[in-house]
Amino acid sequence: MPAPATILVFDSGLGGLTVLREIVAARPDAHYVYVADDAFFPYGHHGEDEIIARVVPLIGELIATHHPDLIVIACNTASTLVLSHLRERYQLPFVGTVPAIKPACAGSKTKRVSVLGTKGTVQREYTRALIRDFAEGCEVTLVGSADLATLAEAALSGGQVSDAQISAELAPCFIGASEIAASRTDTIVLACTHYPLLMERFLKLAPWPVAWIDPAPAIARRVANLLNTPMAGTDEAGAEMIFTSGRPHRLSRTLMPFFGGRVPARTCLMSGSCGPK
Ligand code: DGL
Repeated sequence: MPAPATILVFDSGLGGLTVLREIVAARPDAHYVYVADDAFFPYGHHGEDEIIARVVPLIGELIATHHPDLIVIACNTASTLVLSHLRERYQLPFVGTVPAIKPACAGSKTKRVSVLGTKGTVQREYTRALIRDFAEGCEVTLVGSADLATLAEAALSGGQVSDAQISAELAPCFIGASEIAASRTDTIVLACTHYPLLMERFLKLAPWPVAWIDPAPAIARRVANLLNTPMAGTDEAGAEMIFTSGRPHRLSRTLMPFFGGRVPARTCLMSGSCGPK
């Protein structure tokens, strides 16, 4: 029987897990390598040149070590910048994660859409071009958050994140008078893969109901289309997790649902690069 496909999912931290869980549901037969570049987290605080210089060689190293069949860059802050460089340099399929502005604007009734991402993502020319091409007459508000990705990581790791901290980051997304439903923001693009980790809190704290647009299911469909059909009878393959810092993490149980119930084995970027277990 042929070996299962290896899919490498890459993010600056734990946000890409929200993309991973959709891909695992679509392709439970594949072998997964999840890479959190936590040594460089958060990407939103780094300049464009720094991110390119960091990610392009790191992906080369991961390809050489893990031989993936496909790589998902599960990070908007990186995808909006490095995808073209990666496709130019490496001969394998890359699937990126970019702000879902097109479906958000197509679905908005009030024509008021907000894009919530890192400061890096909302400043990117890539994001601006998506708005120019696909706004369809919508007023698009870009909201760059400095801290939400870090708050999402803290919450996932069991830390206390107050309602006030989250509300302060969400507030600029909600434009218009709350009592006039026809003219207020009705759609928010989740343009950072960390944010769906806080979805329950967002639903609770939103001043009025909106559609939250998460591209993860569409990314999973794209991945499934790019891979060969699984062989009948192929079972779930394994999963590995790499933290580039090599720092010990004790999150295996918390992370299991994202891996479709598997316990991800902790592996190293290169032999010897892991810290103490
Ligand atoms: N998860 C990343 C994204 O989708 C960014 C978080 C960060 O490292 O700043 O943009």
